[in-house]
Amino acid sequence: MNYDIVKVSSPVDLQMAFEVRRRVFIDEQEVPEELELDEFDHEASTVHILARDDDDRVVGAARFRPYHDADIAKIERVAVVPSYRGTGLGRMLMDTLEAEARQAGFRTAKLNAQTHAQGFYERMGYQPLGPVFVEAGIEHIAMEKRL
Ligand code: COA
Repeated sequence: MNYDIVKVSSPVDLQMAFEVRRRVFIDEQEVPEELELDEFDHEASTVHILARDDDDRVVGAARFRPYHDADIAKIERVAVVPSYRGTGLGRMLMDTLEAEARQAGFRTAKLNAQTHAQGFYERMGYQPLGPVFVEAGIEHIAMEKRL
């Protein structure tokens, strides 16, 4: 399948990214809306990306933001709508996030993986860092990768 992945640059595209995250995290995974859509979404330093398929359907989204140290990007909200999973889109989202982060000067990417997705991030070159913890009722593990 072919996808067009873009950096979000308009309020309309930002709403589209939120729509994907609503479907995946709020509706499917039952993450509370007030946790899913947070203050970092509207920070100027947060980079959002959005994926469309050949028919212009919005099918994936993700974001990263600066994290504590100047050279660390925190990757968050990586979401592919259910019927598009397993088609390589998750990898394309990660490649795009990492390329954007590298270009912006970040040297390390960190993320908190839901444990069911740990294998996905390991395939992308991330290494687990610490113990499993629970956030929004879901088990997570911290992971990182040098960019
Ligand atoms: N566990 C282990 N490996 C996985 C995996 C998983 N849950 N999901 C995908 N993979 C592997 C694929 O087999 C593929 O391996 P390969 O390159 O060796 O063939 C590789 O990772 C890339 O898979 P891809 O098709 O690009 O992944 P995807 O489009 O299905 O996206 C997610 C993966 C996790 C983003 C997607 O399942 C999703 O949106 N899940 C719901 C939201 C979510 O939980 N996000 C993570 C929050 S931390």
